[in-house]
Amino acid sequence: MNQPKVWDAYSKSYHNIEKNPAGFQFTLLNMLRVNEADEILDAGCAGGHLHQYILQQRKKNCRLIAFDFSLEMIKIAAARMIKYFNNPLSGQIEDISPQEIENADINCPLLEENNYRIFQGDVQSLPQLNDNQFDIYISNLVLQLVGNKDQALQEAFRILKPGGKIGIVIPVVQGNSLMLSLQQCFIKAGLIPNNAYKPTDIETREGMINFISKHGFKDIVCWNQTIPFDLFDIDDNYIFPQFREILDKAPKEQVDQFYALFKQEVQNRLALNLPFTVESMSLIAKKPS
Ligand SMILES: C[S@@+](CC[C@H](N)C(=O)[O-])C[C@H]1O[C@@H](n2cnc3c(N)ncnc32)[C@H](O)[C@@H]1O
Repeated sequence: MNQPKVWDAYSKSYHNIEKNPAGFQFTLLNMLRVNEADEILDAGCAGGHLHQYILQQRKKNCRLIAFDFSLEMIKIAAARMIKYFNNPLSGQIEDISPQEIENADINCPLLEENNYRIFQGDVQSLPQLNDNQFDIYISNLVLQLVGNKDQALQEAFRILKPGGKIGIVIPVVQGNSLMLSLQQCFIKAGLIPNNAYKPTDIETREGMINFISKHGFKDIVCWNQTIPFDLFDIDDNYIFPQFREILDKAPKEQVDQFYALFKQEVQNRLALNLPFTVESMSLIAKKPS
């Protein structure tokens, strides 16, 4: 499921949900003190929806480097930032045409001139980046997807400066009423077996803290955070890639059944005056000086 081509396809609709994970990332950036860093890395940045915000906070001459393994995602980020560096009042996703994304040059000199670099890369192996290079490594909603999490953490440790900080956010299944609701509707429509989506070892405080300590990080702060997921005024953009793939291959009858069930779930939630929620486990830690 976690292949660049899956995220390439998903890039066409990711902008519709990006404002939701931003709720976690704003907290993380605040906890990491991005305003104090000289060099910041956004690992698995998707379409770079928080890069303008990070740049507004950064100190003079701070460099922001970002990557994602999906080429389509980084083209969105490049198109967005080219637009932004040309005019700081623009760069909203709505301002960017499909043509501008298609033609976006990730090596455009304007990006480098503004201390910004974007490239295609995999968190598990980052030969493009030097040892002891970064003050801050940000990974928002990426680690849960990665096949070899140990390798990803080893790379993060290698490229951080001594005293540099890592900030990680992963979703927690149990507190994710949106994911649980979607999963139930998929099960009822016969699209997936029971318990298809299981929590991973790092979804508990203990599991996450142990995992990060094992890789040499110190001064760990770990917290759970719940945010509402805006669902009532959008169409079917809540369908995450793992579900999108299943729907694309399923018979129409089952797909229709799923949508009918989920529309009812949305109505039930509204009747309770409650939003769907997404819960995260967030963590910041330091590489020892
Ligand atoms: C849920 S999105 C999160 C994106 C962004 N960080 C945010 O906060 O909105 C996950 C992103 O991670 C990327 N990704 C998944 N596995 C990756 C890997 N091994 N290396 C680099 N990027 C990866 C996907 O292409 C996708 O853009």
